[in-house]
Amino acid sequence: MGDPVKQDQAVLSCRNLGKSYEEGPQSVVVLDGLTLELHPGERIAIVGSSGSGKSTLLNMLGGLDTPTTGSVWLAGEELSALNEKQRGLLRNRALGFVYQFHHLLPEFSALENVCMPLLIGRTAIAEARQRATQLLERVGLGHRLAHKPAELSGGERQRVAIARALVNRPGLVMLDEPTGNLDHHTAQGIQDLMKELSISSQTAFLVVTHDLQLAQQMDRVLRLEDGKLVAA
Ligand SMILES: Nc1ncnc2c1ncn2[C@@H]1O[C@H](COP(=O)(O)OP(=O)(O)OP(=O)(O)O)[C@@H](O)[C@H]1O
Ligand SMILES: [Mg+2]
Repeated sequence: MGDPVKQDQAVLSCRNLGKSYEEGPQSVVVLDGLTLELHPGERIAIVGSSGSGKSTLLNMLGGLDTPTTGSVWLAGEELSALNEKQRGLLRNRALGFVYQFHHLLPEFSALENVCMPLLIGRTAIAEARQRATQLLERVGLGHRLAHKPAELSGGERQRVAIARALVNRPGLVMLDEPTGNLDHHTAQGIQDLMKELSISSQTAFLVVTHDLQLAQQMDRVLRLEDGKLVAA
């Protein structure tokens, strides 16, 4: 596992991370032995062309999919050493995740969607509602609490997903194209919120984005190219 002290300090790290898919007799290599380390309060943007493997990388780092090679440590725990239930608990405690396509629960209101991670973590309902409401107000959705995902615009859904990822106050938040549907002003508001939380709570952020203006405001920008991460 290498240097245990260093692993403890990083909120996320991976070594030699690889992912390939078997396509008939051929193997398609999407991630090719890459290494990354993210520390508390650090904000990293990952850019790269469509199909370069950005979502695949986030899914591996977030424990949603299993790599072909290498290891991932999340909050000091090696993901492959945990069973599915332990991984789920770790994710709920330590990680906020914003999927490229939101994955909000369609039957539930914006407020209920944002409350969900807190309720899973056994926070009392009144406190969950209060914290969820505050965050929804912070992303400009105080007037849409009772709306279900189908009654929200694409950008509003994105912001509900962002609020949901932040509500448990995780040490690390991964966001896959979080501002793709947002106008410049609203996207800048999300950027400001990430910066504020990285300073006030030492929250670390890993953001996949095509928005170069957003990427350049982060601490580091990495490009995913030929299955590897290089400085952008
Ligand atoms: N289950 C799978 N089987 C085979 N190939 C896959 C599978 N999932 C993803 N891929 C391939 O892996 C590559 C990377 O996909 P990924 O979704 O990670 O790209 P991306 O960088 O997130 O693209 P975008 O910017 O369009 O979201 C693509 O070429 C895709 O076809
Ligand atoms: Mg993607």
